[in-house]
Amino acid sequence: MAKSTMDQDLSKVLFSEEQIRQRVQELGDELFERFKDRNPLFVGVLKGCFLFMSDLIRACQIKSEIEFIAVSSYGDEFASSGNVQITRDLQHDITGRDLIVVEDILDSGNTLYFLTQYFKAKGAASVTIVTLLDKPARREKPIHADYVGFETPDEFVVGYGLDFKQQYRNVPYIGVMKPELYQ
Ligand code: IMP
Ligand code: MG
Repeated sequence: MAKSTMDQDLSKVLFSEEQIRQRVQELGDELFERFKDRNPLFVGVLKGCFLFMSDLIRACQIKSEIEFIAVSSYGDEFASSGNVQITRDLQHDITGRDLIVVEDILDSGNTLYFLTQYFKAKGAASVTIVTLLDKPARREKPIHADYVGFETPDEFVVGYGLDFKQQYRNVPYIGVMKPELYQ
């Protein structure tokens, strides 16, 4: 394993690099079967999606395109508010497209609830949600992911794209932050 100055801030490994690799390939295989006769558009929700998205699209060898959207929701660092704002919009028309929305974690559901409505209003033919992690205990909005990598307990997790104050995204596994560092 590479040297790290970040491991010491995490209380445990929740999902290892190998578990993530295997699960991402399974998701890629499922998406392949569902979308092989279509030409979907993968839409990543920045920034948390970036590692998951890059692995997922390589695990799903179908003709497709990629797009990104960035949102911010003004709440504190651990909980989103219902007030979701687009900070970087899509660059192309999505009318009539089958979207595969790629998110790092589904928590309150505010982000994906907002984005699903936004994409439908923009004319998407279908919206399929793929989230690496799902924390169902914290849901506030009626939103359900079509594909979930791992169900996650109600703890603050980082790594593999997920951050705490913009750091720890480069931790190669998913780990739990030591609560004393943010409480
Ligand atoms: P939601 O709108 O509450 O579903 O929030 C989703 C967003 O909150 C995710 O895309 C993450 O950026 C962030 N988030 C929620 N829980 C965690 C966590 O445990 N670690 C890191 N980011 C999180
Ligand atoms: Mg995110």
